[in-house]
This record gives sequence, C-alpha cells and structure tokens, in this order.
Amino acid sequence: MGVEITDTAAAIARVRSWESQLPEEERLFEDPYAHLFGGGPAADEAVELLLSAPIFRDHVRLRTRFIDDAVRAALAAGTTQVVNLGVGFDCRTLRLGEIAQQGAQVFEVDLAEQLERKRSILAAAGIPLPPYAHLVAADLTTVFEDGLARDLAAAGYDRAAPAVVVWEGVIGYLDDVACDRTLRWIASSVAERSRLVFNYPVSRFDPEALRPRIREAGFVWLDDASLADVYGRYLPGEPPDGGDLYRLAVAWR
Ligand SMILES: C[S@@+](CC[C@H](N)C(=O)[O-])C[C@H]1O[C@@H](n2cnc3c(N)ncnc32)[C@H](O)[C@@H]1O
Repeated sequence: MGVEITDTAAAIARVRSWESQLPEEERLFEDPYAHLFGGGPAADEAVELLLSAPIFRDHVRLRTRFIDDAVRAALAAGTTQVVNLGVGFDCRTLRLGEIAQQGAQVFEVDLAEQLERKRSILAAAGIPLPPYAHLVAADLTTVFEDGLARDLAAAGYDRAAPAVVVWEGVIGYLDDVACDRTLRWIASSVAERSRLVFNYPVSRFDPEALRPRIREAGFVWLDDASLADVYGRYLPGEPPDGGDLYRLAVAWR
C-alpha cells in the first residue's frame, strides 16, 4: 500500500494523540480529538515512514504548540478570523477555547475528499462542528484563487478584517509554483495586520531566500526560527539531530 498525501494527516494526528497521553507537566498541548483520526493501516504506514526521521515526533509537537501560540496571540490582539489552509485533521477549531471566547470564525480549507473524511469521522464520534467552523474545499495545485475567494466569502470570510492564516505541514506537498501562488493569494486576500503562520522544511524553502520571497508575495515582515531554536523555548535539553532541517515562521501583512 502506498502512503497518500491525505494519510500523512492521520500520521500527524497519531503523534498529537500521543501528546495527550503524556503527564500534564510534559505536554506541549492537549488534543482530545486526535485519536479519532490516527487509526488504520494507512496511518500505520505513514507513521512508520515519517518516524524514520528521529526529529519527526518533536517536529510535530513543537510546530503544533508554536502555531497554537501564534493563533492565540493573534486572537488576543483582536483577530476574529482564522483561515487554515490544508487543515487536514487539525482540531484547533474544537480545542482552542480562545476561538469561541473571541467570537472568531474559522475557515478550514483542504481537498474536498479530506474535508469529507474529517466531517464524517467527527460525525461518527458524535462531535458536531461548531457553527463558527466553515469547511471550504480547494485544491492549491490548481487555479484556485477566484473559486476559493468566492467560497470563503460565501462562508462569511471578511477580507477587510484581519485574519490569522495557518499553513501547517502543507508546503512539502506543493511545488514552487503552487507555493508562490499560495503566498501571493494569501497576501492579497487578507487585510493589513493579518498574520500567516507556517512551517517549512529547508529542503523546500531556502531560509536565506525566504525573506525576499515573502516580501515579493506582499508580506511586510517575517519572524523565522529553526526548529532547534523553538525546541529551546519549549523543551529542556538539547534538540535531537535534524533541528536545523525545519523552520517555523510568522509573516505579517
Ligand atoms: C501533512 S497534512 C497536514 C494537515 C494539518 N495542517 C496538520 O498539520 O495537522 C497535509 C494536508 O495538506 C492537504 N493538502 C495536500 N495537498 C493539497 C492541495 N493541493 N490542496 C489543498 N490541500 C492539500 C492534505 O489533504 C492534508 O490534509
């Protein structure tokens, strides 16, 4: 059996479900929904493949926490829209209480088939999506811009109001053309003071070239850190090998 792109989302969910089993003082986050998505032989295969890199588990743990904190910071600053591109089985909409407290709307974007999988797994577990969650299908490798803008607007997205856009674990699946196209689309679809939070492997984006690249797309500022640096912020001791292979970034519009 081959690992499909969509199965990698199940592998990520499996790692997030392990986090919830750690003692409270060791946890970087709690995801009580992740176990619903991390089962099955396809996920087994994807987990085995991804865990062959020793940094993989900490990478998922740290990026999850880093992005949680970036979304919380945006909400605390008054942002009331979250757009999650390639949302997969991420359950921030359900697990970040600040989203409901802030009265924020969440727009979850992914391939139609993946959104349907997510919706049916949650429904089978008796978990309704809250009214502020909007599932919007798009394929970022196609000419998606106008269709996604239209469907987001129909779901209630207000492009005049600041948003926090999450782009987590997706860059590795898009080629350079699709990445630059997506960056440009994000920059032109969000109001000033919006933020984009994302992770990337250095094998896909050269960190030296990222600043001009995101400026060219229409962003004005970038905070960019290696996973090894982020490890030092959240975890004790030295990061495992590979901490320089991944990075976490926040770009500002
Ligand atoms: C590794 S998963 C990450 C999911 C989620 N962001 C997370 O971190 O838990 C990659 C996600 O990107 C989505 N994806 C891949 N190619 C895509 C495309 N062309 N258009 C939209 N979504 C895509 C997949 O369906 C999958 O849900």
